[in-house]
Amino acid sequence: MRKPINAPATPADCAVELTTNIAGLKKFAGALVRWQKKHGRHDLPWQKTRDPYRIWLSEIMLQQTQVQTVIPYYHRFLERFPTVSALATAPLSDVLALWAGLGYYARARNLHACAQVIVNKHQAHFPDNSVQLAELPGIGRSTAAAISAFAFGQRAAILDGNVKRVLCRVFGITGIPTATAVDRQLWQLAETLLPSKDVEAYTQGLMDLGATCCTRTKAQCDRCPMVDFCEAYQTDRVSELPHRKTRPTLPVRSSQVWLIRDDSHVWLERRQACGIWGGLLSLPDADSVELPRNAQKLDTRQVRHKFTHFELQAEVTRYRIRATESPTARNPHRELDAYPLTEAEDLALPTPWRKLLVAET
Ligand code: ADE
Repeated sequence: MRKPINAPATPADCAVELTTNIAGLKKFAGALVRWQKKHGRHDLPWQKTRDPYRIWLSEIMLQQTQVQTVIPYYHRFLERFPTVSALATAPLSDVLALWAGLGYYARARNLHACAQVIVNKHQAHFPDNSVQLAELPGIGRSTAAAISAFAFGQRAAILDGNVKRVLCRVFGITGIPTATAVDRQLWQLAETLLPSKDVEAYTQGLMDLGATCCTRTKAQCDRCPMVDFCEAYQTDRVSELPHRKTRPTLPVRSSQVWLIRDDSHVWLERRQACGIWGGLLSLPDADSVELPRNAQKLDTRQVRHKFTHFELQAEVTRYRIRATESPTARNPHRELDAYPLTEAEDLALPTPWRKLLVAET
């Protein structure tokens, strides 16, 4: 039985460890490229172009979001911002509004900042190599590699969550993939495996295999090109690898907010630029607004929503006011404005609030 690869103590250990699945090391790239050409995805909207702007946009959207969710956002974005210059000169609030619903709004803020750097410092041209790409806002090492491979045919290794899963299984890597030593080992492996040609098909193949075959649950090993030399398959550990962190229970954030509406509008506050919901609209905090005297209290609802880093437990009190009246912000620096309820779907709002407002229409 081959020895599983454990987190190495030193780089020298790592080099030795990686020789344990020699068949895998030799066959991996060729098997993947052949499989991608025959069974991989070839018709995704961002595969029809070499335009680095379009490829960058797709890679940022795909960082934490699935392909089927991204596709309509990708088309709407390109329609509204056809070039990096159009995106750079747009107000951030327009970018956030088009992003509403994709979540992880730091991505949208970085996207806008990155477009401005490209226009102001790079004459509206994306750098053609992964090292320079990785210096831009919102572009990490793996995303930089994907952009440079797809837009410029450059040889650079990707390593996102899906790829980590594939490598941990095929090469029997134990330990939690985000742990520094394991992460380092995975990067070294990813670099070692890169083929000298067909880098686009190889990179797409890694993404396709992780998304359609070597999935987190219910992996379809019977149609995997790696099955003959996959450590996890050969040792019956596919469901065990990659090792998982035990999840701590999420911290709870409680809040009390007001949903203030008239016949057709709702009053929303723009959050400060920094922080988790920076730049987004939000229902106003209960202590931040003064209601008009005739405001009618309708009801109070409990809302729970799990975000990545916390669970929101909010008490939402609904008020109806007359169309001729307005609530006022207690702090004059807070922006409190009326928005048509019919536009709720398209406003830059955190998901639980957007759902509530769409139900109001
Ligand atoms: N996930 C990340 N990048 C992707 C791409 N280019 N195609 C499909 N899924 C992806």
